[in-house]
Amino acid sequence: MSKRETILDVENLRVYFHTKKGDSKAVDGNHFRMYEKETLAIVGESGCGKSVTAMSILGLVSEPGEIMPGSKILYTGNDYNLDLATASIDDKRKVRGNEISMIFQEPMTALNPVFTVGDQIEENIRIHEDVSSEECRKRAIELLGKVGISRPEQVIDNYPFQLSGGMCQRVMIAMALSCNPKLLIADEPTTALDVTIQAQILKLMNELKDETGTSIMLITHDLGVVAQVADWVNVMYAGKVVESADVRELFTNPKHPYTLGLMASMPSLAQNGARLNVIEGTVPNPVYLPEGCYFADRCTKCQARCLKGQPPVIEMPNGHTVSCFLYDGNENEELDEADRRTVAEVLAMLNKDSADEAFDDEKTVIIDIDKDQTDGSGGDR
Ligand SMILES: Nc1ncnc2c1ncn2[C@@H]1O[C@H](COP(=O)(O)OP(=O)(O)OP(=O)(O)O)[C@@H](O)[C@H]1O
Ligand code: SF4
Ligand SMILES: [Mg+2]
Repeated sequence: MSKRETILDVENLRVYFHTKKGDSKAVDGNHFRMYEKETLAIVGESGCGKSVTAMSILGLVSEPGEIMPGSKILYTGNDYNLDLATASIDDKRKVRGNEISMIFQEPMTALNPVFTVGDQIEENIRIHEDVSSEECRKRAIELLGKVGISRPEQVIDNYPFQLSGGMCQRVMIAMALSCNPKLLIADEPTTALDVTIQAQILKLMNELKDETGTSIMLITHDLGVVAQVADWVNVMYAGKVVESADVRELFTNPKHPYTLGLMASMPSLAQNGARLNVIEGTVPNPVYLPEGCYFADRCTKCQARCLKGQPPVIEMPNGHTVSCFLYDGNENEELDEADRRTVAEVLAMLNKDSADEAFDDEKTVIIDIDKDQTDGSGGDR
């Protein structure tokens, strides 16, 4: 295996929102790395700090939020090596939308309503490249076609309000791809799209990685999407990464009770007639975090020591890490029967007999028909 070149090294990232009730610890001691030409998926429940982590990388955390002292976001780019946690606004602007671009979770709020989509994509190209207006328009039309918009030569002159949510999302994706970024952060990029367009977008992201070497940070709730496009996965809970592993390793050998719970609650399992598991309870309020493990009140394997302090990060073979007392010392927890079934079910959901087959090098985009039927939010109307 060739040496993995680090592109992003996040160390002890803490992002607090200073509220009247106290500090809301949206991200609280996050550590992770990203490598060139790899897709890192970040998964976790709503409110666990996925978007705030992404916003910190882009330098878009604003008051009452603050990237706390001691946080590090070391970016190794083409032309810039920066600590994005402390870089000047000018330096952040230079990399944003150029070397690092983002597909936002809410396309309608990210697009400017008073400019056509063509104006917005073309401006993005022109800021970073010296190209003629004709060339710019041609490239914008090509990009719109690439993200699956039919009649791109007409849509280019539309305003965002004339397009559906799904189309706006694809315009956002076209904008993000327009400068061939070194790092693309995609925050729930396919949630609003129907399953055919979702498959196209995921394929496009895989192609981008292969053709231009772009590293992708993919934020998603959908473990099916993770299995299809990720190389590596970080599972986040209450502002921290609690488990991190190669995608194949994570699906076949999950360790953290929260990861196991997430896998058991995959909606696609319902098609087998199985009752969906629910992780009882909710993510703790980031203003009132407990002294012990943040997952303790929902964890079926909680022990007395879990309530007294933060679990250590345990390093396992092949870079797999887990933050849980169960794996502290020699008492490595074996998956019990229920957990094993969960892994088998995950493979069944992927229509694969073995993990090797499910996570081969040529990742294919698997369309989850069951999800399409239940997700009526759809793409173009
Ligand atoms: N401007 C803000 N002021 C106060 N708290 C905030 C602000 N923005 C985010 N937070 C808090 O930070 C925490 C993490 O939010 P974040 O948006 O990163 O969650 P997420 O994991 O992206 O969730 P989702 O899956 O719903 O998008 C949440 O508790 C949220 O309430
Ligand atoms: S540290 Fe304890 S409470 Fe936390 S996930 Fe592990 S077993 Fe559960
Ligand atoms: Mg979010």
